[in-house]
Amino acid sequence: MFGFFREENALVCDGVPLDAVAREHGTPLYVYSAESIRRAYRELDEAFGAYPHRIHYALKANSSFAIARLLHRSGSGADANSIGEVEVAMRAGFAASDIVFSGVGKSPDEIERAVQLGLKAINAESAGELERIDRAAQAHGVRARVAVRVNPDIDAGTHPHISTGLHTNKFGVPLEHAGELYRRMSTQPGLEPVGIHVHLGSQIISTEPIHRAAVVVVRFARELRDQGIHLDHIDVGGGLGISYDGSRVPTAAEYAAAVLAIVKPSGLAVAMEPGRYIVGAAGVLLARVVDLKPAAAGHQFAVLDAGMTELMRPALYGSFHRIEPVTPRQARELCYDIVGPVCETTDALGHDRRLPALEVGDLLAIRDAGAYGSAMSSNYNRRPLPAEVLVDAGNATLVRRRQTIDDMLALELGGS
Ligand SMILES: Cc1ncc(COP(=O)(O)O)c(C=O)c1O
Repeated sequence: MFGFFREENALVCDGVPLDAVAREHGTPLYVYSAESIRRAYRELDEAFGAYPHRIHYALKANSSFAIARLLHRSGSGADANSIGEVEVAMRAGFAASDIVFSGVGKSPDEIERAVQLGLKAINAESAGELERIDRAAQAHGVRARVAVRVNPDIDAGTHPHISTGLHTNKFGVPLEHAGELYRRMSTQPGLEPVGIHVHLGSQIISTEPIHRAAVVVVRFARELRDQGIHLDHIDVGGGLGISYDGSRVPTAAEYAAAVLAIVKPSGLAVAMEPGRYIVGAAGVLLARVVDLKPAAAGHQFAVLDAGMTELMRPALYGSFHRIEPVTPRQARELCYDIVGPVCETTDALGHDRRLPALEVGDLLAIRDAGAYGSAMSSNYNRRPLPAEVLVDAGNATLVRRRQTIDDMLALELGGS
């Protein structure tokens, strides 16, 4: 068994009791299962079989260094959404030729660095950005490999805040304008078109929009080929969802089948940028109850020592995470609103949760917090970033220590 499961009533990570990990390292604490990450990566990789493909793990989901390194050692490439993520990827061992660089507003410095490094592809977001990449590449006497991020105006059926493939979203270039950009590249000596990029959004729970996007993009690649523009790959982005509430979501095999059915006849390699699928279920956030008090309608407030500063998703998108006592008491169930300590009404992790009666000091696990958890944490209310533990082969290792007030103030004039 691997991942998070119960042994004699107590929640464990890859067999290591979470109670003990929390006692040793304190809370709030992220705990990750290395084996879950490796298996999710392998499952997706195997689903594409022998067809030419490359997984570029989307660091935005979780760029903690230990996780970046683990994925590099597992054989993954990387997808970076800022030059900061590119630098982390390089320090974690990824070669420049294995990094794709996405992102809607690349600064001049980011473009300059990306061009110098010679990344596998810069996924360009606009005509203006292509021009800026061209100029930077010419200044260095190189050709930058680029893919245009096309916006196919397809509704991925996700939460509106994480949809990116509609014309009303800020991302990419409308498909009908993209042909002109590829043709123009023949007059831009700093650019080498190598692919087409599309990313519809995150937490996609049906293969149907993915299939539709593949159809559109492959048709476009064929049109380009007919015009003498030959590409290496189609980058289908990320977005494959996970089940936060136990409902059915597409498997890696179903996802691969949907993509390959369309891309295979083109002969183009597949690049993909999954984040959540690889790390989402592989992490929990551990937090302790610091206060209990009655709420309206017979509910109780359980106030935790973690909230939106550690896990912003519920406050940001109203997302659902299962919340479980690490060692449930034998007690009658009560209905809880589980909230954080931050001075914001939206700082809640779950509403209307029926749990065996809690006591102050109890340890709770917020499940499926591996993606967009730690990566989105903040110092709001001067709360230190949480510590992180990676469990691998029965060993629980502190991979990020808890931030201190000194760490925070070190950046500020007169602070240290
Ligand atoms: C360009 C790009 N690629 C990949 C991803 C990863 O998405 P996910 O974690 O849903 O797989 C994102 C996130 O939305 C993204 O913006």
